[in-house]
Amino acid sequence: MSNSLFRKKSLSSILSDASERDSHGSPELRKILGVKDLTAMGIAAVIGAGIFSTIGQAAYDGGPGVIFLFIITAVTCGFTALCYAEFASRVPVAGSAYTYSYVTFGEITAWVIGWALILEYGIGNVVVSISWSSYFVNLLEGVGMHLPAWLATDPSTARSAYESAVQAGTPTDALAWTTAPLVAGYKFICNVPAFVIIILITILAYIGIRESRSSANFMVGLKLVVLVFIVGIGVFYIDTNNWTPFMPNGFSGVLKGVSAVFFAYIGFDAISTTAEECANPQRDLPRGMIYSLIICTIIYVVVTLVITGMVNYSEFDSVADPLAYVFEKINQGKIGFFISVSAVVAATSVLLVFQIGQPRIWMSMSRDGLMPRRFGKIHPKYQTPGFSTVMTGIIVAIPSLFVESALMTDLTSIGTLFAFAIVCGGVLVLPKREKTAEKRFNLPYINGQWIVPVLFIVFLYGFRERFMDSLTNLSHESHQEILFLVFILVTLVVTVFSFLKKLSLIPILGLLCCCYLMIEIPTRSWAVFFGWMAFGLVIYFSYGYWKSKLATKS
Ligand code: ALA
Repeated sequence: MSNSLFRKKSLSSILSDASERDSHGSPELRKILGVKDLTAMGIAAVIGAGIFSTIGQAAYDGGPGVIFLFIITAVTCGFTALCYAEFASRVPVAGSAYTYSYVTFGEITAWVIGWALILEYGIGNVVVSISWSSYFVNLLEGVGMHLPAWLATDPSTARSAYESAVQAGTPTDALAWTTAPLVAGYKFICNVPAFVIIILITILAYIGIRESRSSANFMVGLKLVVLVFIVGIGVFYIDTNNWTPFMPNGFSGVLKGVSAVFFAYIGFDAISTTAEECANPQRDLPRGMIYSLIICTIIYVVVTLVITGMVNYSEFDSVADPLAYVFEKINQGKIGFFISVSAVVAATSVLLVFQIGQPRIWMSMSRDGLMPRRFGKIHPKYQTPGFSTVMTGIIVAIPSLFVESALMTDLTSIGTLFAFAIVCGGVLVLPKREKTAEKRFNLPYINGQWIVPVLFIVFLYGFRERFMDSLTNLSHESHQEILFLVFILVTLVVTVFSFLKKLSLIPILGLLCCCYLMIEIPTRSWAVFFGWMAFGLVIYFSYGYWKSKLATKS
């Protein structure tokens, strides 16, 4: 049993399966994406709810110094993007991290990753649709249209707002809770705009990649123009006194934003799911990922500096629309309205790319027999994975009606970091590449033998107080600190292996940085994450394990 759990697909079998599909003339995905489209899709997937919404609380906790977190996260994503690029150039078929781990670690890990990716794409889109909804409701208000509050939020958020309002002595301010109708004795509260946008995006993703590409390119153009505009105007309102102190709550304050900041970067990897729709995936996918990551990092750092320069960090507590808010504070409310328009567009493009990505992962899993065949069927007319696209629509749209955003953000970040860590680890065990005349991306090899141990010592020195504290109070430590100690142990093991086996530096750094960001996410989200993964394993052992193509071959 244990061997069959780790049964692997070989690179050559993946490539020959792909060419067999081509030669059978079965309905194929359209190969039309080039490097510009991929970069645009990357930016489309990355810039969205993160910079327009969740950055507010991160700036409040960390102050302007949150830019360090943006840089650390960008570097982490950069290492990971290089590892994704290495895989994308070797395994140019759809499926992203799922397919990559099938080749390197075997079936069970691939399943686990495929399951974790539902958190990135599916649950990630739940968060984005909720952010979309709040900006959209602002827009409607701006043009004098009013949606009842109980139709534009979830029950848990409405309840918390009511409890806060009661404490503040203004319970009637909590309109969603106080005006909601009773159905069977329960307050009926749901987020209709979030639900509707998911349905519309699902229809677009179903109709076709060409239409989706044109819409993504248009939306990217618009949101970039607006962000440049925000920076262009905002710089004239910067008061440099707002940058002192730069890290008002120290580095631990900055670290509180890990989940939100990481969420802002999620998406650059989504373009690897479209490998079969690229004209030249081996050359263009790596470039698209790296270019989009560089562009987004510059934008994030500059925007963060501008908004924390315009308004003091302490005013961002619970501000859900920070970019519009800073302009309201300087009495430029009209600009705030345009920012809301752009936020809606930005979130729409993220929704589109993720809603395209999830079905393509299921398509790959279905081809491998781990999911029912219908998930892999390509629509004869639209040439998209039709059934998977509809299923994605359902699993995202229904929760978006009722669930609360914060836990979902954590879950998305943790699931994505987990997938990233496995991709980085996977590169370490890839077989050596054969020399070829083709121009392909090659991950540069830097020997980690000495560099990794030196970095480990520097890390331990930097975190010596936290480390000693955790060790001496072990029996009373919180779960978070236990995670920290586990991280140190994992790093030690990785360091020893790097030293002995002269492992490649970039994937090692990617792996360790992802693990580090993961342990900074609150432990309550870890508990839900483990529950989700356990549920996934139950499904695997009831279905995929028996139906897998590799099982039927042997
Ligand atoms: N990075 C994407 C966003 O911020 C998920 O919306």
